[in-house]
Amino acid sequence: MSLFRAGLEAARRGLRPALELRGGLRAGARPTAASGPVEPAARRWGAAQAAPQRSKPEGGGGKSPVGWKSLGLALVTGGGLVALYNAERQRRLEKPRQGPSAGTSRIGGPLTGLTDHHGRPHSDESLRGEFVALYFGFCFCPDICPDELEKIAAAVDLTEKQTGHRVQPVFVTIDPERDSVADLAEYCPEFHPRLLGLTGLPQQVKEVAKKWRVYYNKTDDTEDYLVDHSIITYFLYPDGEFATFFGKNATSEEMGERMAEFVRNWKKEHPGYKPRP
Ligand code: NI
Repeated sequence: MSLFRAGLEAARRGLRPALELRGGLRAGARPTAASGPVEPAARRWGAAQAAPQRSKPEGGGGKSPVGWKSLGLALVTGGGLVALYNAERQRRLEKPRQGPSAGTSRIGGPLTGLTDHHGRPHSDESLRGEFVALYFGFCFCPDICPDELEKIAAAVDLTEKQTGHRVQPVFVTIDPERDSVADLAEYCPEFHPRLLGLTGLPQQVKEVAKKWRVYYNKTDDTEDYLVDHSIITYFLYPDGEFATFFGKNATSEEMGERMAEFVRNWKKEHPGYKPRP
């Protein structure tokens, strides 16, 4: 089962910072997200990196160590993706190969209702058959989004070079009130010639972001407002299923090589797979 292996692999290698954060929370620091101000996502990931090294992540198998009850709180504090990941893995363990699941607990979902940076209604059909690197951010973001998009672009190129298979980078704005189709049309090609930009009505973006557990929040109401948001790059299989994700601390080389690994494993298990022309 490639998805399990991928999940375990990710738990072993990719999720360590987040797992450390969870460990750190358990060790004493009480999550205060419900009462106190929410830290910018960058700092949350930074805190995860600064946590003491753990030689081996816990909860490699069996039941998800974080219950659904604590998930809401954990999500706000930044460690929630681990819980989701474990829950997702558990879901796959319990329901192997039953086709596309309509379950509500899964990570991800179609980017329906959005409009691409050419002004065309987006259909996920256009992404099926493609490996996808998916990122949520906003054009006005001063440094983090540009950094992440540059990393994604380099990682996508590296994966393609290593495997001969294309990865489609996708940027969804979580600031649809300000990021118009025209803004995206100008913004996306600055990072990668194939970067697909998506925007939509605020409610549509909200629904998509919810499926992907992406957090975002306007920091103020001035004209030059910033948006605090999760900094996560998702990697998707050609069938649209969630494969793994990368945090801010992943370098483009790490991202590219991990993506290539996922591509190679997928190809091994899907000998008939041919990328879209
Ligand atoms: Ni940003």
